[in-house]
Amino acid sequence: MTPEEFRHHGHLAIDWIAEFLEHVERYPVLPPVKPGELTDALPRHGPERGEPMELIVADFERLIVPASTQWNHPGFLAYFANSSTPEGILGELYTAALNGNGMLWKTSPAVTELEQVTLRWLRQWSGLPEDWFGLIYDTASTSSMHAIAAAREAADPESRTKGTARGLAVYTSEQSHSSIEKGAIAVGIGQDNVRKVPVDAEFRMRPEALEEMIERDLAAGLRPCCVTATVGTTSTTSVDPVPAIAEICRRHKLWLHVDAAYAGSAALLPEFRWAFEGCDQADSFVTNPHKWLLVPMDCSIFYTRRPEVLRRAFSLIPEYLVTQADPRAVNLMDYGVPLGRRFRALKLWFVLRSYGREGLAAALREHVRLAQWFAGEVEADTRFELAAPARFSVVNFRYKGSDEDNRRILDEVNAAGDVFLSSTVLSGKYTMHLAVGNQFTGERHVRRALDLLRGAAPAGVSV
Ligand SMILES: Cc1ncc(COP(=O)(O)O)c(C=O)c1O
Repeated sequence: MTPEEFRHHGHLAIDWIAEFLEHVERYPVLPPVKPGELTDALPRHGPERGEPMELIVADFERLIVPASTQWNHPGFLAYFANSSTPEGILGELYTAALNGNGMLWKTSPAVTELEQVTLRWLRQWSGLPEDWFGLIYDTASTSSMHAIAAAREAADPESRTKGTARGLAVYTSEQSHSSIEKGAIAVGIGQDNVRKVPVDAEFRMRPEALEEMIERDLAAGLRPCCVTATVGTTSTTSVDPVPAIAEICRRHKLWLHVDAAYAGSAALLPEFRWAFEGCDQADSFVTNPHKWLLVPMDCSIFYTRRPEVLRRAFSLIPEYLVTQADPRAVNLMDYGVPLGRRFRALKLWFVLRSYGREGLAAALREHVRLAQWFAGEVEADTRFELAAPARFSVVNFRYKGSDEDNRRILDEVNAAGDVFLSSTVLSGKYTMHLAVGNQFTGERHVRRALDLLRGAAPAGVSV
């Protein structure tokens, strides 16, 4: 492609994206496609000869966009709704232009240093300890896997060379994300040695149950090494009692990892600082700006107070990558599995600078306001009930009927096409889940979800 052709297609692309973002509501949130339909519509073999960009873009519009779930749709109210902001999109564009690879400081000083700078800004804005070390991975699953690897290293340095981590145990609540178990599988601790600590009526880990499980395992000859607490669990956004858990970890010398993949962004809001009490005691902490900080996929921040342990767990420097030691030249490849790393900090920097702390706080506050308004309306309708306390920007609720009723109502609401809510199971019951997190979501969209729910719910409660 010549520079002139690039200019031409680049301008068209920006125009397309601007139009797409402005009119994203033209599309249904969930694409009306069947599994395999896109595959069948695309050629079985790649082209022998290069094709014109006009044709590629036409197929993108004709085939790819209609088969896409529209995460940028303001009616996307499922899981943890999120956003690809224009600032973030521009950051991604420049990232691809530079094509930086931050494996070593030398291979891209900008990738390495902007990562340190943006993560310091966020630590300051979030009231997290200044001296933590931070780096960006792709997802919270990867971040937590590294936390568990560091915990393994701290408890049993031999496991690194011998390849066994037998007898180590990890503790997490019944409500924590499955990535914790996957992390334990990946680092050789094994799923059987992940203890699921029971939760209280508000879905928070019970510290006394944690203590009992640790004592029992110690008596049985197991070696507890790590506790992961969650601030903002996946289903209900419950907040584990981190101060009490930290105290147990201190006493038993266990690595404390805090998974704040979604709710970590709320640390920017002083009114939510209570949720992060005790997090300064953590050995590691993960938060995903791609979940609730208006940054496009993917961007997961991993902080640790003990970078030297993480480094010990993973530093392996092949001859061709040996560089001069300079304390300010951090080589990020030393702190994890990936060698190559994308310039994810650039889009983060664009978003942080364009919004500023105040702008981000205002956006999050609006999401919280909309979710809390929705929770109030649900509670006021005698046919519905909240299934968990509505915290942050998420509401879990049920029609006071059978699981089948709830499933049918949700299917009917989602079939309308302009909103998408998800579901979970709480206390054994099918539960509807609404999350506000998209940049374009306004009162109109949340009200629409409510109207559809009210319309789909039978008038009389059939319990
Ligand atoms: C609390 C929590 N931790 C971890 C994850 C996994 O996130 P990722 O997709 O970044 O791996 C999720 C996903 O929703 C989550 O809710």
